Amino acid sequence: MSERAWYETFRSMFKGLDRCVFLNSAGVAMVSEPVRDAVLRWAALGQCAEFDYYAIVSEARENAAAMVSGRTDRIFFSRNTTHGIHTFILGYPWQKGDGVIVADCEFPANRLSWLGLREKKGVGVRIVKSQNSKAALDDYYKLCDKDTKVIAISWVQYLSGQKADLAALGRFCRAHDILLVVDGIQGIGAAEMNAEELNIDWLSADGHKWMCGPEGVGLVWMSERAFNVVTPACKGWFGVEQPFNFEEFDQDYEANANRFLDGSPMVLGIMAFSAALKMLLSFGMDKIAARVLELSAYTINEAKRRGWEVLTPLNPEDRAGIATFRPSSGDLEVIAKKLHDNNIICSLRGGGWLRLSAHAFNNHEDIDKAFYVIDKNV
Ligand SMILES: Cc1ncc(COP(=O)(O)O)c(C=O)c1O
Repeated sequence: MSERAWYETFRSMFKGLDRCVFLNSAGVAMVSEPVRDAVLRWAALGQCAEFDYYAIVSEARENAAAMVSGRTDRIFFSRNTTHGIHTFILGYPWQKGDGVIVADCEFPANRLSWLGLREKKGVGVRIVKSQNSKAALDDYYKLCDKDTKVIAISWVQYLSGQKADLAALGRFCRAHDILLVVDGIQGIGAAEMNAEELNIDWLSADGHKWMCGPEGVGLVWMSERAFNVVTPACKGWFGVEQPFNFEEFDQDYEANANRFLDGSPMVLGIMAFSAALKMLLSFGMDKIAARVLELSAYTINEAKRRGWEVLTPLNPEDRAGIATFRPSSGDLEVIAKKLHDNNIICSLRGGGWLRLSAHAFNNHEDIDKAFYVIDKNV
């Protein structure tokens, strides 16, 4: 398939693009045809309660594992990114005085969750000070000591779009016996994730951004060493070896990551999420990632050539799909409203920034349309 045919086929998966200019994959994903079909399939199956739960969840786990290049038995489906992080926090055997390192520029899902530990467990949470929503790895390293048990970080920062060098951080964490917990939501689906190779220990991401899934279903992948240390906070009937053996009370936890499940899974959401993952994988994450990077470069260059301030790192290795900038004049609230009135979906973010996040189904014309509206209002 030629590159053009590949792109046109991918774009045709997103019918909503006929009705709006969607530059908000860092916000909430656009619904694709496979996701829509999966929802309808769920409804059709549900009319006669014909779900084959095991087949649906097994296939979805395979797709999730392929998306993060990790072992399938180390995957479970969470309710969202926060829930995945909480599962780690609630299951880790904290001792008074243990330490966690997290940056001040993290999205609340990966900041508040850890800060809460201070009060509850006497864990020392040290905060890396960021500059312009970018945190330097050296500043994480400086805060570590013998009590540090966890470094928690976003793969891609939600505002600046800074992409962390997880390979370097993963090596550091292994060398110092620290667990690396990653909020992957702003990266997975936009860039290629290889969780095993990067030495990540706990990877949590809801599906509703770059992975093109619905809100409220996420994936968690964990390393062998995390699997051996973190235990489920409570025994859930779906987290044991034989969930449907209701008479057997003395049941052991499931031997794989599904031990972290609680009750009935969100089958509808899992079907939709799985369809989205399958679609992305079939188009090739290498091709998708390359195109996403090219589109963020294009957005950044458009802002730069107008002389506007760009928050996103210019080096392609340090970013994925997020491109954040601010025009040098004009009222951003007005600009955001004009964009909205022109059916251009993007995000106005705190601190006076415009965030455009183009997925591989977008093109230069979409981005030009946004700049056309901005230009008229600066
Ligand atoms: C970096 C980051 N983490 C997490 C979330 C969302 O967390 P959750 O899936 O728990 O709603 C977002 C955006 O909404 C985000 O940008």
